Amino acid sequence: SNDPEMRSYVGAIDNGTTSSRFLIFDEMGHLVIGHQLEYRQIYLHPGWVEQDPMDILGSVVSCIDGALRKFGLQGHDIRKFKGIGITNQRETAVVWDRTTGKPLHNAIVWSDTRTKDIVTRLAESSDKGTDALKEVCGLPITTYFSAVKLRWLLENSPKVKEAHDNGNLMFGTVDSWLIYNLTGGAEGGIHVTDVTNASRTMLMDIKTLQWSDECLEFFGVNKDILPEIKPSSTLFGTVNCVGLDEIKNVPIAGCLGDQHAALVGQHCFEAGEAKNTYGTGCFMLFNTGEKYITSNNGLLTTVGYQFEGEPASYALEGSIAVAGSAVKWLRDNMGIIREAEEINALAAGVPNNGGVVFVTAFSGLFAPYWRPDVRGCILGISQHTTKHHLARATLEATCFQTRAIVEAMNADSSTALKTLRVDGGLSNSDICMQIQANTLGIDVSRPQMRESTALGAATAAAVHLGIGIWKGGFKAFAERTREAKEVLQIFTPEISEKERDEQYELWQKAIEKTLS
Ligand code: G3P
Repeated sequence: SNDPEMRSYVGAIDNGTTSSRFLIFDEMGHLVIGHQLEYRQIYLHPGWVEQDPMDILGSVVSCIDGALRKFGLQGHDIRKFKGIGITNQRETAVVWDRTTGKPLHNAIVWSDTRTKDIVTRLAESSDKGTDALKEVCGLPITTYFSAVKLRWLLENSPKVKEAHDNGNLMFGTVDSWLIYNLTGGAEGGIHVTDVTNASRTMLMDIKTLQWSDECLEFFGVNKDILPEIKPSSTLFGTVNCVGLDEIKNVPIAGCLGDQHAALVGQHCFEAGEAKNTYGTGCFMLFNTGEKYITSNNGLLTTVGYQFEGEPASYALEGSIAVAGSAVKWLRDNMGIIREAEEINALAAGVPNNGGVVFVTAFSGLFAPYWRPDVRGCILGISQHTTKHHLARATLEATCFQTRAIVEAMNADSSTALKTLRVDGGLSNSDICMQIQANTLGIDVSRPQMRESTALGAATAAAVHLGIGIWKGGFKAFAERTREAKEVLQIFTPEISEKERDEQYELWQKAIEKTLS
């Protein structure tokens, strides 16, 4: 409707690794308003990353409250607020008590590498090594995925073990923890997840989209601790939460892991379309349609999304553990910038990296290398090296690793990617996106609205609720986006093939050293 009085609105909860936000979209898919809050990270030992589940929940509730307040101040009517979608950092493992609803341990975050030894032990228990469950769940055994973290909790927290054995444990990724609490917590909270989040646990069968007995047995996990798996766009529950009386009974109708939500938000609905989201880490998802592809080149097989009543769409994923977090590291640990954005001017102060290569393996190396045991290194430092070179090398690290992932994707799918769609924090950096185009030798395409993750979650909810441009269901919406002309900013490669390959060779040498 063109009449603002008549418009409906839909909200997206986006719990990222370091901050939460709540964004409200109108029925045309335009961003109306948002509220964002950082929350606490707990680093007890090198390689350990925890979060307090109550902090995560608290930040989400405060963001909803803050955004709704602004929404009201702008003169909007809260009754036009029709539904909520949730999107979240994936793999992060939360355990809580079925009776009290309280956490039994801090959440173990996806980037945490404390499970290195468990990974080695589990891999040694199978003659397929780290590929023991790859055919069932699409993933290699590594520190990244939830079940390995859950195994650590069962072996190291007597409280968690006891609750597990007594049938009093609830386990979930952050989406499940949030939905449980937003729908009533210990008083009737709903224990659910969606196929995309479930596909990151190592416990879901990628074919049946149900929990796999083989995986459960492998990790020694009882099925009764797990949430029910649902499509990404369906009714998950309705809001019933202290502090959110204003939106009591509003339906939660969308849920996807953040990278999967970005795939939807970028409208990558066709096989062969890919997006790269530069957040705390950086994650490329390549839609492979209704067929899933098992990678021979170090990529993950994952569920892209599933709309109610439709078959799931699958994706190949290339995960980079460190992207925006390296910029934070320059700011907080090295102190060479005060604000994250300052990295751009710093990097622009030199025409090239001056031979400096930075492998930002703070939590091991993810795709396509999968080495949880290695640590970062900076190579090629000379008397000539300045903070400008280091800033540039920091941006280049994500771009080089993205090239390694694109090469793996091209090999797995036997077609060459023609354009890369980008979004997320670092995609706001022109210099970084130009470097990315130079490194890949293909166009990098950036949408005007870069909150693709939140838009994807809002889309999942709005399709189910039949709101605005999403009326008529997912297929009709996907069809319309195919025809729509989006305003995109294109970064085109500006260096020669020879230069591109010479630079990449330096990266490969640095990787060799890191891995050896
Ligand atoms: O797999 C982890 C990923 O979901 C985290 O995303 O945006 O917080 O880096 P982000």
